[in-house]
Parts: sequence; structure tokens; C-alpha cells
Amino acid sequence: MSNFIIIKKKINKFNKTISVSGDKSLSIRWVLISSLASGVSIAKNLLISEDVLAAINIIKKLGVKVSYNKFYCKIYGKGINSYKYKKKLVLNAENSGTLGRLILGLIINTPHAIKLIGDKSLSKRDFRRITEPLSKFGAEFKFKKKNGLPLIIKGSKNLTPIRYFENRGSAQCKSSIMFAGIRTFGKTIIKAKKSRNHTELLFKYLKLPIKIKNKKKYDLIEVKKIKKIKPLNYLIPSDISSAAFFIVLTVLSKNSKITIKDVNINPSRVGVITILKKMGIKIIYKNKKKYKGEQVADICVSSSSKINSINCPINLNSGAIDEFLIIFLVAAKANGISYFKNLSELNQKESPRLKWASKILSLMGIKTITTNDSIKIFGNPELNIRKEIVIKNFLKDHRIFMMSVIAALSFGGKWIIHDKDSVKTSFPLFLNILGSIKK
Ligand code: S3P
Repeated sequence: MSNFIIIKKKINKFNKTISVSGDKSLSIRWVLISSLASGVSIAKNLLISEDVLAAINIIKKLGVKVSYNKFYCKIYGKGINSYKYKKKLVLNAENSGTLGRLILGLIINTPHAIKLIGDKSLSKRDFRRITEPLSKFGAEFKFKKKNGLPLIIKGSKNLTPIRYFENRGSAQCKSSIMFAGIRTFGKTIIKAKKSRNHTELLFKYLKLPIKIKNKKKYDLIEVKKIKKIKPLNYLIPSDISSAAFFIVLTVLSKNSKITIKDVNINPSRVGVITILKKMGIKIIYKNKKKYKGEQVADICVSSSSKINSINCPINLNSGAIDEFLIIFLVAAKANGISYFKNLSELNQKESPRLKWASKILSLMGIKTITTNDSIKIFGNPELNIRKEIVIKNFLKDHRIFMMSVIAALSFGGKWIIHDKDSVKTSFPLFLNILGSIKK
């Protein structure tokens, strides 16, 4: 079957209520934490995507039993020390940076060397950012390449607690250090620049020993060795990062409306909502509720005829880090020049996303000035594409594919977008849900 999609026409007006898939960050964390619980954990609405299946395969290789169907997933945890560290073990994180980094924290007590591998994209991503703090605990690492996978980890039973300043705002690094901390005697203290806080919320919900002091720019997190994790039954809320594509499609289309049900609106994740509101877009939360420390709501949004440009405050970067591509499309239609800065982390994702955004916007006829860590977008409220645009060789980055589809449906032109399969990593139902909106 062909692995590209051709879009020749803007989407017709729509008025729909949809649900998107379960949150990826929470799905991966649920799999990893449940794998060390004492007893059976059950999740509903777990994201069944390649990244999460890679997490399931890794815990299976570590000796944990898992069963799942389309309704629920069961993990048969045997306790905190139950991983079977066989000799010559190879674990594959595939395309998931989150999985690759988080699992290193959990296997830090392995007595045998374990090889961690991934796909082409992970071989280009920075793993030193996590092996550096994990080495301080007493683990040893060997890289084949400069900074990316594959790598070999050799852990230790006698880990030393650490004090660490996580200054990138990386939730992956913070969480991985927390995981290593719960395997270590003594207190591990992390001063962490603000980033998504799902791991902290899960620790609190599970009543694991954690102390958190929230400061303005960073959090102080203290964790220590744990003996037991109770099983975790979880109804995974929907992913704001997936919802964002449909929010933006609605904003950029004419006379349309959408309601997206039960989305995780954790304050550390809703940068996209705050930014779009600052650009003059009306977004309403309905049926707000709390769920195991997270916040969930239905998100309602309508087409927006007037969009303001934005000089985006840098304190919103971390909460919108996965949504900038789609936010840039809104800036392309804004009245004036938008400016996004301090975004070097965007080039550290599945592909160098800032570079790709700039490339796609210029193919669309939008002027940009792009540096290594910033982009100025010269918006055009009358943008109407009439030419052919081909998008390929984007390292199969799922979010580049989905951004391109939304651009095609919003601004017109003929688009040929390659590597359709890339959506399988985070949002396999993306094109199906889109199909239900078009009907
Ligand atoms: C994630 C953290 C973010 C995000 C990624 C998921 C997580 O990365 O971009 O998609 O689940 O912890 P960083 O922690 O590297 O910023």
C-alpha cells in the first residue's frame, strides 16, 4: 500500500464532537510504573501506538507479563525488584525518546550490561543529557556514536543518591532521575526547570515518598528508595498533543466548530491553549474534573476570522513544546509578525522541527526568519495556496506529517505528503478521526 497521502482541497465546514486517543506521556509512564507494581494494574484508553507498544515490549523482555486488547491493558507486576536482567539483553526504544530515557532510570540497578537501541531518529538524539546524571548515581555507559543510541548501560546495586540541576526543562530527564532515585538508598534531590509533571503526580497518587517545592522557575523534587508500588488502575485521559491538530484545523477553517472530549488539561501541558488564547482565539473548557491528580475537560473551539500575531513569552515554551509546529500554522494566518524564541529544544526532537517548520512555511509562501533557536513568522491572513507542495524525508516525524495534513486542509493547494505510517508512533487513529470530521 502507498505510504503517502494526496490532499487537493480544503476541508468543508464541520460541526463535530470527537474523542482523540489516550495521552502518550501518561500511557508510557503507566506501563513503566505498573511493571514494577506488586499486583495487576489495568488501564483503559491506553494509547495503542508504536511508542507505547515499544514500552510494553521492553517490560516483557524484562520478564513482566502483559495482556491487552482494544478495551484495556493488564500488567501483572511482581514488585519493585522483579525485572529479570538476563545476560546480553537488548532493549529497543524504537522511535520513542521518552521511553529510551525513562527506561534507563528504571534499569539502573542492572548487574549485567544491557544494550539500548532505537530507530534512525533515536540514533541522532541526545542521550548524554540522561547518561550524564545517571552516571553520577554509579551507572556506567558506553556509546557507539557521539550522543545517540545505541548505548550500553551497566548498572550497580550500590547506587549513590545525587543532587542534580536539570536546567533544560526536560521532563524525560527529570522523570528518569526520579526513577533512578527510587532505586537508591538516601535522598535524591532534583532542582528541575519547569516541565510536564505527570511523573510527580503519579508518585503522589501512589503515595510514594516524594517531596515537591514549587518555585517560580523551577521545582525542587526529593525522592528516596521505595519498597513497594501498589497496582495502578488508570483511565488514561486523551492527549492534548493529539487534540491540538483538530483545535488548529477548526481555528483555521471557515464556519466550523469542534468539541474534543475528556482531554488532559494538566497546566504543565496546555501551553498551546494559552498561546492560542493570546492570539485572540476563543477556547472553552467544559465538564472540568480532576482525575488522580490530573485535570480533564472537554475542549470547545470555533473558527476564528481574526488571529493576532504573538511575541510568545518563553515561559510558555515547555508547556507547548510538542505543539509548536501546529501553533506556527496559526501564526502563518495571523495579522502581523509572530516571534517564538529560546526554542533550541525543538531541533532535538524526532526531527529538527524548527528547521522543518521553516521549510514548510516557506513552501507555503510564508516568509520566516529562522535561527538555531528562534523563528519569526510573517503572517498572511489571506493565505490561499495554489501550488503543489511535496513533503518528504522528514525522518518520519509523526508531528511533521500531521502538521502538513492540517496545513493542506486549511490553506489549500495540492499536497503530496510522504510517510503516512509515521502517525503510528503517537496517533494511529489520526486519519480515521479526520475522516469522521469530513463526513
Ligand atoms: C515528554 C517530554 C517532552 C516531550 C515528549 C514527551 C515526556 O520531552 O517533548 O514528547 O513524556 O516526558 P522533553 O522532556 O525532552 O522536553
